[in-house]
Amino acid sequence: MSEHLISSIDSRRARRAITDQPIDRETLTQLLQAAHLAPSCANNQPWRLVIVKDECVLSQIKEHLTGGNYWARLSPAIIAVASRVELDCRIPDGREYYLFGCGMAAMNLMLQATELGLIAHPIAGFKSRPIKEILDIPADFTLIALIILGHPAQDHGGLSEKHRGEETASRDRRPLSDVLSWNRFDFVVPESDSASP
Ligand SMILES: Cc1cc2nc3c(=O)[nH]c(=O)nc-3n(C[C@H](O)[C@H](O)[C@H](O)COP(=O)(O)O)c2cc1C
Repeated sequence: MSEHLISSIDSRRARRAITDQPIDRETLTQLLQAAHLAPSCANNQPWRLVIVKDECVLSQIKEHLTGGNYWARLSPAIIAVASRVELDCRIPDGREYYLFGCGMAAMNLMLQATELGLIAHPIAGFKSRPIKEILDIPADFTLIALIILGHPAQDHGGLSEKHRGEETASRDRRPLSDVLSWNRFDFVVPESDSASP
């Protein structure tokens, strides 16, 4: 990995201080092209990306964000990542790859946004059903995530105190030894564990 790539990966953060300054169509197209270069099982390309830039549609979507995602209401463009299980490999032992593929496409998009000086913040905190209806996403598709886009704001005054702190906090990660082992699976796994927010 080149120095340059790791520094881009490092500078991508899920920041919340954004402005409502519009993002032009050409820039949005670049982000979508980056997403579409992602690898996928058997090259199935399971991602379906809906770019929302129309103010009327945007404001309808924003009605259905969870309270903690108030900061996303300033966003001038939101990308919905949707797919369904049949669009990607389904291995008989239970492995289903569509979410994995969509995650890789989303990551490409977020890194390209970072390169362009934009914030691209993925969220799961939204009501899926009404947003799917607003966007005409078929019922059998999963709306996996929304990617909130925006130009970074210098002023953090619109954020809650907690989010103001997080905005400038250093990266929070478990020690590498918690998530990595060499040559065999050497982790202590709790019997039941919920990682839901
Ligand atoms: C699938 C997914 C869902 C997320 N949902 C939310 C969300 O609803 N609201 C939010 O503020 N951040 C959300 N995040 C952002 C994470 O909280 C953030 O990526 C994490 O704290 C690590 O911070 P970093 O991305 O700056 O390294 C989500 C991230 C992912 C990947």
